[in-house]
Amino acid sequence: MIKRTIVALPGDGIGTVVLEAAIRVLDAAGFEANYEFGDIGWEFWKKEGNPLPERTIKLLQQHKIGLFGAITSKPKDAAAAELAPELQGKGLVYASPIVGMRQLFDLDICIRPCKTYLGNPLNFIRRGADGNIEEPFVDVVIFRQNTECLYSGVEWTNPSDQVHEAFLTHKAFLKNFGKVPKEEISISARIFTKKYTGRILKAAFEYARNNGYKSVTVCEKPNVIRETSGMMYKMAQDMQKNEYPEIQLWNTNIDAQMMWLTKNPENYGVIVAGNMFGDIASDGFAGLIGGLGFACSANLGEEIAVFEPTHGSAPKYADYPVSIVNPIAMIASAGMMLHHIGENGIADRIEKAVAEVIAEGKVRTYDMMKMTGSPDVIKQGAASTQQMADAIIAKL
Ligand code: NAI
Ligand code: MG
Repeated sequence: MIKRTIVALPGDGIGTVVLEAAIRVLDAAGFEANYEFGDIGWEFWKKEGNPLPERTIKLLQQHKIGLFGAITSKPKDAAAAELAPELQGKGLVYASPIVGMRQLFDLDICIRPCKTYLGNPLNFIRRGADGNIEEPFVDVVIFRQNTECLYSGVEWTNPSDQVHEAFLTHKAFLKNFGKVPKEEISISARIFTKKYTGRILKAAFEYARNNGYKSVTVCEKPNVIRETSGMMYKMAQDMQKNEYPEIQLWNTNIDAQMMWLTKNPENYGVIVAGNMFGDIASDGFAGLIGGLGFACSANLGEEIAVFEPTHGSAPKYADYPVSIVNPIAMIASAGMMLHHIGENGIADRIEKAVAEVIAEGKVRTYDMMKMTGSPDVIKQGAASTQQMADAIIAKL
């Protein structure tokens, strides 16, 4: 059998630590792969003026599968100030390499599963009608459109005359903003296209069908944002009717969804949304299942796929002599990668091992013990990143 090549992108801060832990788990589970390490992140911004060097792009184009830790981003001016002296004043502008990868490789489908691990002390609980404490079992998979919507960067402050005049042709703009001097206007455009809206909907319905979910919920706001949200919901209705009659199509507004989040999260299955509402909904649901230490994700394009925990580089924990952060979000992201490439057996074994460690409750990282992060947490009984990975490996 030819070994697979995985492009490993540690990045910055705790990204390097959690990726190392995940690769140890993959090895121990019997996943045979070569890891090509790609340069990405802050160090390369500082040294080369580019946090996503061309050689890293080539690696991903060649091998198609990336396993990514996390990077550090800083605001424009702070970033420019940290450039190497010889790169200063050249007009280099920092742009986040993860956003860059999503755009460059057209990674338009983002999948964020939020599933309860039994025994996780961070699981959401609520009081039931009889006064008893209930712990709803959440099993939600969020499909977030990853490249369009309000995050596509089509924005103006004090727009040009041409842009301003174009907006003035819109009745609602004329009525609400026609008298506002254009110097006082900022505009961010929310753009949805049929192609990418169709792709995220299709991905959501297919996933529901193949994984036994009974419903797909479009979580937007079509009653108010009629054009973009409206298009997504209408396309979902047509798709459900013509291609997925066995799956129920539900429709929630993002604001109401956030309210229902704590009321009945167990009722939802697959949720699909545009970029911004998908971002919001996925963070909301992740909070019910333990938060950043557990939230994993996949970014899928037609050719290339990148798997990553949703947390960042957590710089304050990056230089601890013994790392305290929870590697489970990264390990679960590696599990998503295995499913994507068809290694379902290995993925299931890892998933089972993680679930057993959590259920047993003997090995818990500081976040699971509800401690404030500090080097002392290890002395107080919290497991280190490595110990958590070891415990998972021992269960394989
Ligand atoms: P963050 O996710 O790095 O950390 C926020 C807090 O969450 C941490 O201080 C820690 O308390 C907790 N946390 C995060 N990961 C954890 C883990 N695995 N186990 C236990 N606790 C964990 O977000 P923050 O502090 O807003 O950003 C730090 C840097 O990361 C920034 O430069 C930001 O731009 C970048 N970032 C990068 C992302 C990426 O690479 N995809 C995503 C989010 C932020
Ligand atoms: Mg987010």
